[in-house]
This record gives sequence, structure tokens and C-alpha cells, in this order.
Amino acid sequence: MSLPKVFVTRIIPPEAQEILNRVAEIEIWPQDTKPPQEVIIQKAAECIGLFTTIEDQINSEVLQSGKDSLKIVSNYAVGYDNFDIDTATKNGIIMCNTPDVLSQTTADLAFGLMLSIARNIVKGDNFVRSGKWTHWHPSTLLGRDIYGANLLVVGLGRIGLEVCRRAIGFGMEIFYHSRTRKLNLEKELGINYVSKLKDGISKADFISINTIMNDQTYHLFGKEEFNTMKNSAIIVNTARGPIIDMESLYEALKNNQIAGAAVDVTEPEPIPNNHPILSLENFVVTPHIGSASIETRKKMAIAAAKNIEAYLLKKTIPSSINS
Ligand code: DGY
Repeated sequence: MSLPKVFVTRIIPPEAQEILNRVAEIEIWPQDTKPPQEVIIQKAAECIGLFTTIEDQINSEVLQSGKDSLKIVSNYAVGYDNFDIDTATKNGIIMCNTPDVLSQTTADLAFGLMLSIARNIVKGDNFVRSGKWTHWHPSTLLGRDIYGANLLVVGLGRIGLEVCRRAIGFGMEIFYHSRTRKLNLEKELGINYVSKLKDGISKADFISINTIMNDQTYHLFGKEEFNTMKNSAIIVNTARGPIIDMESLYEALKNNQIAGAAVDVTEPEPIPNNHPILSLENFVVTPHIGSASIETRKKMAIAAAKNIEAYLLKKTIPSSINS
């Protein structure tokens, strides 16, 4: 008997391939770049499952195309703003993600970015490489202390929580703003809730964005929010690019309204090489690598594969978003 077909949109770790191979006939897109949208539309009509990444748009056209065949789509990511969940649910297609396994790694990068901008790590590296380190001077590349500073965490989900845990180690005073207040965590971690985002923004030395991207969080940080931030404050975004209005961020950084920004995500992605923000020294950027460690990527691929495996074996799906 032939096995059901699953289309995998990128080369994935062998451990995940093995899981899928046991239950499905898998086809892997062999290139580093995403498959053209027409290919995804066609595969949706031919396959029972899609194994996707955040770059693959699983929109109504794809889901319509798969209405008679497609049963499950598993994202190789925790975020799923590339999914049209409503249409999937209407068509009975199960949509999955990979929560939990990447929270620590992403929180690590948030702190890496925070340190990079606050302590001039990237600037320092450029300084040395460009031959400017000709003598030692006590005022060279003075940064800002993370220790003892205020941190506002925007979004207290799994990753936000891990950011808080790291911030405790750094001796920071932590505030959070979240859709729901989490009294147990306030007690356990000694963190404080701010019901109005603006109140948190105005007192923060550092802001870490860890919320999901949706209609409510789109451009959550714009001109007004940057105006509210202290001139000495730094913002870090490891969530999704469109949560920050990049135009306003550029203006705020250029005019030294805020001290710096370090982001792993941009709008658009990839950010064009000639984007004016890339000329600013108080801006640090990485190419959406929040969860990109060897260990975590492997765990994510296995988790995404297990979602599909569970469906095909008629077991409980570990991380379904809509069922
Ligand atoms: C995620 O998991 O959502 C990351 O942004 C991509 O791996």
C-alpha cells in the first residue's frame, strides 16, 4: 500500500526526515530558497501534509487548493503568522507549530542583542577591525549598564518568561505588559505588571519585545511609543518585524530620541541592503536567527515532524493550533 504524501519545503535534519519516512512518502524541496508559491499550491492539492517554514505563505489559495487532500500543515517554527488559520479551520485542516523547544535559545539571543547594543560589542568589533584601536582611552565606546536597569518585557509567553529569568540573573528590575496578568509568575519571579503599555515604556531602560504578531500588535511600537521612551533607552525585538514601525524606529534612532535598537526581525524580511537604518551606528541587526542553534533547530524539526506523524498514526497531535 502506498504511503500518504508529505511535501517538505526545505532540507531538514535527518532525525526529522526519519520520523516522516516511517509514515509518509516525503518529497523535500532541494533548494535553499523557498519553493515558488505555485509549487506550494500544487503540492497542497497532491499531499496530505505540508512541512513548512515561516517564509511559506499558507494562505487561502493554498488551503483552497488542498481542500480535498490536505489534512495537516506543520510549521518548523513557533510563530505562525504565515498561516491563514481561519480558512484552515473552515476547511478542517490541522495547523501546527513547535512551541517550548525554542524559548531558551530565543531568550539567549534577546540578551545577546541587548548586550551587543548596550555594551557596543558590534561597534567594538568594527572599531578593532578597522584599525581604530590605536591606544587605550577610558572613554572609548562607553556603553550602558544592564545590571540594575529597568526592563520592560512586552508579552509574557514562553519566550518572554525566559527573558525575565535571564534578566533576574542580570540584576534587572523587571516589568511586564501582557494580555493577561500572571499573578503566580509575579510572585515567583518578583516581576511587576503594567496594565498600560505606555506606563511601562516611559520608565524602561530596556524593552524586550516578545509578543506574538497579530492585528493588535502590528506596529505596536511607532512614533508615539518612541517619543515616550527615555532618550537613554534601548529596544530589542526578537519576535516579529512588523510589531515595530521601522520608519518611526529609523527616525527615533537618527534623532537620538532613543539610545539604540537591536533586532533579529525586520519589516520587510530580509531588510533591503540599502535601507537607511543600516547606516545608523545605534542599530544592531541579525537575520532572524532567534532559534537558530544546532540543538534547537533539530528539536524544532523533530517536533514539527512529530505533529505530522501523530496525525498519520491517529494519535494526539502534540502542537496543534486549531484542533
Ligand atoms: C519561530 O519559531 O517562530 C521563529 O521565528 C523562526 O524559527
